[in-house]
Amino acid sequence: MKNMVYIQSGGPTSVINSSLYGAIKEAKKHPDKIGHIYGSQHGVEGLIDDHLIDLSLEDDEQIELLLQTPGSILGTTRRKLPSDIHSVEYMKIIETIKKHNIGYVFINGGNDSMDTCNKLSKLVKELGIEDVVVIGVPKTIDNDLACTDHSLGFPSAAKFVMNSVNAFSVDAACFKKGKVHVVEIMGRTAGWLTASVDLLPEETRPHLIYIPEMKFDLEQFLVDVKRVYQEKGFALVAISEGLQFERDMSNVRVDGFGHVQLGGAALELTRIIESRLDLPTRAIEFSIVQRAFPAMVSLVDRNEAIETGKRAVQAALKGITGKMIIFNRVSNNPYKINYELAPLDKVANAVSHVTPEMIVDNTRMSDKFRDYLRPLVEGEVKLVYKNGIAPVAKLKRLKVE
Ligand code: F6P
Repeated sequence: MKNMVYIQSGGPTSVINSSLYGAIKEAKKHPDKIGHIYGSQHGVEGLIDDHLIDLSLEDDEQIELLLQTPGSILGTTRRKLPSDIHSVEYMKIIETIKKHNIGYVFINGGNDSMDTCNKLSKLVKELGIEDVVVIGVPKTIDNDLACTDHSLGFPSAAKFVMNSVNAFSVDAACFKKGKVHVVEIMGRTAGWLTASVDLLPEETRPHLIYIPEMKFDLEQFLVDVKRVYQEKGFALVAISEGLQFERDMSNVRVDGFGHVQLGGAALELTRIIESRLDLPTRAIEFSIVQRAFPAMVSLVDRNEAIETGKRAVQAALKGITGKMIIFNRVSNNPYKINYELAPLDKVANAVSHVTPEMIVDNTRMSDKFRDYLRPLVEGEVKLVYKNGIAPVAKLKRLKVE
């Protein structure tokens, strides 16, 4: 009998632990085929450093709390492995897999993590290790994974963004002479999450929306902001964190995947607005709250996350390898998706963008976009509270020797 190992990788989402929950629940149904359920500490680093924990020994109560636990409970990483699959890191991974008699490897991540997943599955095949399968579980609030209708975590982040903007725009509109509010929303190169504000009713919807898929011209931006302010007495602008405009990037940091550390674009733009237009401003950056807020999780997202974890285990038990679970949308109303599989080769390092048909201009998305998003943000989750706080899972994290 073989053991399984589950890996969480890249930026967390508010439902990434729900996929782990689904995988654990399904694995426990097959004690004849899956021995221990291991978790790799800090993504693929746990496999490199032989640091696995035994999730089979965790209390049921804590496993249930995974459903309302943000972050990546196993720890995560943005470590980019060398492109050469024969490098020492990959050899150490194989050693750990053999040492712990692992037959099922699950990597739950976004684009870069699927690249690692793809390479590992190729290496396993090349080495002729036939009793090890590798399956990808999709997630990223950026919603930019290729081959799938959407990525887990995006719907909940969109729900958070929409509801937060819906609330604070009422506050922003209270004053006779208000401010220019610039809200910065995550999404490195894809504008899905920023565009989600388009679902709001006219009264609370941002007046201007800028996503990386649109051409951004700073001079035109200032003209538009001034016009809105003169008309309304305040302005609400939504921008993607990855918006490109001329600014000092000399001190920016780069993460392990080689991506520039984003954040601060709204602040930068408000400074420009103040100096060029002499208008009062406020910069609002949701930062990591948008991917970690359990009270604003979409029920559709959570349920799909659980189901995807289960389906990943079922696929592995069928001997499927080198594939990622994907969602194929069959209809919008009623919302229906089919769970399918895509080759990791096709998913790895490709990026899915907001399409031109989904964009009208910098004030509106199209019906096509709204029809796409609406069903994903449906349904509310009920959290368990203790003393007014929603508790998160505490694991024993017993190291596997
Ligand atoms: O994983 C995607 C993401 O949430 C991006 O939207 C964002 O740019 C990035 O992660 C932030 O990562 P970190 O929290 O590591 O700075």
